[in-house]
Amino acid sequence: MATKQRPSTAIGKTADYLDQRTTIGALVKEFARKVFPDHWSFMLGEIALFSFVVLILSGFFLTMFFDPSMGLVHYEGQYPDTLHGELMSSAFASTVHMSFEVRGGLLMRQIHHWAALIFVASIVVHMFRVFFTGAFRKPREINWIVGLTMLILALAAGFTGYSLPDDVLSGNGLRIIDGVVLAVPVIGTELSNLVFGGAFPGDQIIPRLFTIHILVVPALLLGLIALHLFLMVLQKHTQYPGGGRTDKNVVGYPALPVYVAKMTGNFFIIFGVLALMGATMAINNVWNYGPYDPAPVSAGTQPDWYILFVDGALRLMPGPGWEWVIAGYTLPMNILIPAMIVPGILFTLLIAYPFIEARLTGDHREHHVLDRPRNRPVRTGIGVALFVAFLVLALAATNDLIATHFALSIFAITWVLRILLIVGPVFAFFVTKRVCLALQRKDRELVLHGHESGRVVRFATGEYVEVHTPLDAQEVWLRTQHTSPQPLEIQPAQDSHGVKRKGYRSDRRWQRISEFFYEDRVEPATPAEVAAAHSHGKHDELEARTPAAVGPGGAGSRAGSSAGGGGGTGTAGPRAAGPGATEPGSAGQGEDKQQ
Ligand code: HEM
Repeated sequence: MATKQRPSTAIGKTADYLDQRTTIGALVKEFARKVFPDHWSFMLGEIALFSFVVLILSGFFLTMFFDPSMGLVHYEGQYPDTLHGELMSSAFASTVHMSFEVRGGLLMRQIHHWAALIFVASIVVHMFRVFFTGAFRKPREINWIVGLTMLILALAAGFTGYSLPDDVLSGNGLRIIDGVVLAVPVIGTELSNLVFGGAFPGDQIIPRLFTIHILVVPALLLGLIALHLFLMVLQKHTQYPGGGRTDKNVVGYPALPVYVAKMTGNFFIIFGVLALMGATMAINNVWNYGPYDPAPVSAGTQPDWYILFVDGALRLMPGPGWEWVIAGYTLPMNILIPAMIVPGILFTLLIAYPFIEARLTGDHREHHVLDRPRNRPVRTGIGVALFVAFLVLALAATNDLIATHFALSIFAITWVLRILLIVGPVFAFFVTKRVCLALQRKDRELVLHGHESGRVVRFATGEYVEVHTPLDAQEVWLRTQHTSPQPLEIQPAQDSHGVKRKGYRSDRRWQRISEFFYEDRVEPATPAEVAAAHSHGKHDELEARTPAAVGPGGAGSRAGSSAGGGGGTGTAGPRAAGPGATEPGSAGQGEDKQQ
């Protein structure tokens, strides 16, 4: 009888001890064997994950020294001496104290701040990756929504943290938020009093934000990250298209040891880069701005990058004529539109996007192979248009800096950016869509006619033809495995008895949107087309031969026959080759290389 092998190493013994008490071994084994596809873009989610870990670790340190109180104190620290003895809130004083008097305090503050910026940046880039590749399609719609909720929470975490030091910059940020809260119709004033515990700024907001920042938001994020990753493992990760990859399999490496090793390495790299940034790149030196005082607001003050779009939208929105008074209530549309209505619509559409797309294609199948962005031109166009709108709004949030640095009129800049905000995304959409369609045509061309080799062969008749190299099976698969969705087909408006069909108008509306998405399309080459393209044309015969054979006495051997399609070269088929040779196959003729 085989005896059970006993572990001999300390780790083995510990694992055995745990397994005997929890039977966790089976679960670990199952996970360790799980196959994950490989692609660099899958690291974007990991960057978000690991910068979140750095945020928790560095944030834990900061809570030890930060005093979330708006009570006033005289600053007692020696550094910087300009602040010595000045009246300020305990929150601000403790931030400065932490920066100058606590060992490693400034480093930790800076690591924390950089990690926050990278955290949100990686979430946004990760979201774009998921969007452009269609990773949100069934069955991952729930994870898309979980992700968007985390994005909103990440913005909340960033903003609440940014406000804590109670310096001039963050105080003015809060003042803007107060303005937005006050703009809420009917209940704005009460809501502002509720949020700030009385008139702005009051003495409540910093402690409240502190609780939200260190408890509520991180707890929610932690729970949602766990759910996000659980769903990812449960549904399996998507894979990029390639030979042998289908919606029914996963091609990749096992979690253990490959991914565990990769992820551990990735974690240390991210940790190291953030530590380096924190150690060498100054950020949010609040003592230069001073404690919050409602009076000083200077030009050149910007929020962190992820809030720029709201600030920019507020700056671009025209004021006069947009404050409507209805039944004695003021509706400040100049604030509501940029700060609430537009972001509200944007996030609602983003949340709804997977469902909208499924409705437009009528495709409710599961998708585990990702789309190449070029194969979904309208979706890709929408993503790029969104990105351009974000850039224009971010620029708008720096209109004062552009004005002072380039000695330009701030009004002119604002007008140019207003026009750009409307024209830019539309232009970006159409250019992107055309580029995607052109890339799809190129894919077709490649599959049907092969790569241009740069080798031009001359035949006895003096005719030239370029040799094309056929694609290998992997390349062909990559370019032909997708389907090209068609616009929705709907039932006619009336049935066979001429009775109007209920729901026709709604169906027709969806059909129109679907036409907008899928009317312009390039069908992938079918196997029949590939076979046809490779069964005619003399250049195809050239393909079949080795380069050496396409030379003297090679390519020309069949030349002289009728013109073939010539495929992608657009030329007639080779006939006879060059100097000194009237008959194909003669020595000394044939190949001219023209690069
Ligand atoms: C705290 C923020 C986030 C963290 C820590 C995070 C983490 C991750 C990780 C580690 C993965 C697997 C690797 C990868 O595909 O990149 C992943 C996958 C995924 N994430 Fe996120 N994510 C976050 C936010 C988001 C957002 C904002 C969205 C979309 C709105 C999103 C949607 C998805 C989807 C749909 C998948 C599955 C992708 C696939 O299988 O191809 N995530 N996430």
